[in-house]
Amino acid sequence: VTVVGLRPVVVTGGAGFVGCNVADRFAAEGRHVLVVDTLARPGVERNLEWLKSRHPRHVSFAREDIRRASAIAEVVADASAVFHFAAQVAVTTSLDSPREDFAVNVEGTLNLLEALRASKGKAPLIFASTNKVYGDLADVALTAETGAWLPEDEALRSTGIGEDRSLDFHTPYGCSKGAADQYVLDYARSFGVPTVVMRMSCIYGPRQMGTEDQGWVAHFLIRALSGEPISIFGDGRQVRDVLYVDDAVGAYLAALKRIGTVAGRAYNLGGGPANAISLRQLLAEIGQLLGREPAVEFFAPRPGDQRYYVSDTRRARAELGLADPVGWRSGVSRLTEWLRGQHDLMAAEGAPRAAEARP
Ligand SMILES: NC(=O)c1ccc[n+]([C@@H]2O[C@H](COP(=O)([O-])OP(=O)(O)OC[C@H]3O[C@@H](n4cnc5c(N)ncnc54)[C@H](O)[C@@H]3O)[C@@H](O)[C@H]2O)c1
Repeated sequence: VTVVGLRPVVVTGGAGFVGCNVADRFAAEGRHVLVVDTLARPGVERNLEWLKSRHPRHVSFAREDIRRASAIAEVVADASAVFHFAAQVAVTTSLDSPREDFAVNVEGTLNLLEALRASKGKAPLIFASTNKVYGDLADVALTAETGAWLPEDEALRSTGIGEDRSLDFHTPYGCSKGAADQYVLDYARSFGVPTVVMRMSCIYGPRQMGTEDQGWVAHFLIRALSGEPISIFGDGRQVRDVLYVDDAVGAYLAALKRIGTVAGRAYNLGGGPANAISLRQLLAEIGQLLGREPAVEFFAPRPGDQRYYVSDTRRARAELGLADPVGWRSGVSRLTEWLRGQHDLMAAEGAPRAAEARP
C-alpha cells in the first residue's frame, strides 16, 4: 500500500460501522488513515474493502487485537491522533462472556492509553463511550401517555440527560465501557494525554451491520426488508434519541480540531429531544416507507434496558460547534435506500440465525 502523510490517524475498530465512516472522512481529506481491527464482527470486512477501494492511497490496515499490548504500542507509536471504536459492543454478549468483554473494553483501552502515555508526542485519543454509563435511570419518573416512555418532568423532557448525571454502571458492558470512559478521562488529568469521551446514544446509518444484539435501527430495517419478523424486548415504548452517522462523524472531527479546549471533557452525543423516538414509532415509519407493516414478536424486557434515554446535547453542540443534526425520518429513509442495495446482507438475514435461541 502506498501511504500519503507521515503520521497516520489511527482508527481502532475502523472496519466497524462508526469507525469506517470516520476513517472515510479523514481519508477524503487526504489524511493517511491506519485502520486497526480484528474483523471480529461478521460483515465488517466489507466496510474495509469499501474503504480501501475508495481511498487506495490513504487507507492502510493492521489486523491487530487491542488486547495485544506490545502490538498496539507499535501501531500507535507515530499516530497523529487515535480514534478508539474497537470494542465488544453488545450488552447481551457481555452477559454471556463478562471476562472477554472486560479484556477487550477495559484492558484494550488501557493498552492504548499506556502506549500514548509512553510516547513522545502524546497524540490525542477520542473514545466512543455510551449512554449506558448512566445506568437504567430508574429514579426518573416516566409516563407512557403518548405510547412512548417520557419523563413526567417537563424540563427533563425538553432537554434530556446531561453529563452531570451520576454514573451508575449496569451490566458487564456498562461496567467495562464505563471503566474505560473513566480511564480515558483520567489519563488527561493524571498524565496530560489529550483525551475526549463521547457518550453516544444510538447512532445509525449506512455501513451498519445491525443485529438483534446491537444496532437496532439498521436491524429493524434489515428484518423488515427481508420479510423477517422483528423481535421486540419489552413493550416497544422504549425511547432513544437517534443520530445519523454523518453527524456523529462531524462531532469526532470537531473534537480533534478543538482538542486544545476540549481535552479532558466528556460529551453526551445523540440526536437530542428532537430526534427521540420509540421502537414503535420506528416500526410505524418502516411500515410507511415499505408500504407494509413489519411483522413483530414480543419478548420479556432485557436486563439493564433503559425505558427512556435521550441525550442533552447542549454541551456538545456549544463546545464542539455542531450544526443541527439530520432529522430522524430523513436519516431512516437514507439508510433504507442504502440497505436496498445490499443484497448479500439481506440474503444472510434470510438464513438461520444463532441469536434466535435467545429468549
Ligand atoms: N453504534 C452505536 O449506536 C453505539 C452507541 C454507543 C456506543 N457505541 C460504541 O461505539 C463504538 C463503535 O460501535 P459500532 O456500532 O461502530 O460497532 P462495530 O461492531 O460496527 O465496530 C467495532 C469494531 O471493532 C472491531 N473489534 C472488536 N473487537 C476487537 C479487538 N479486540 N481488537 C480490534 N478490533 C476489534 C470489530 O471487528 C468491529 O469492526 C464501540 O466502542 C461501541 O461501544 C456505539
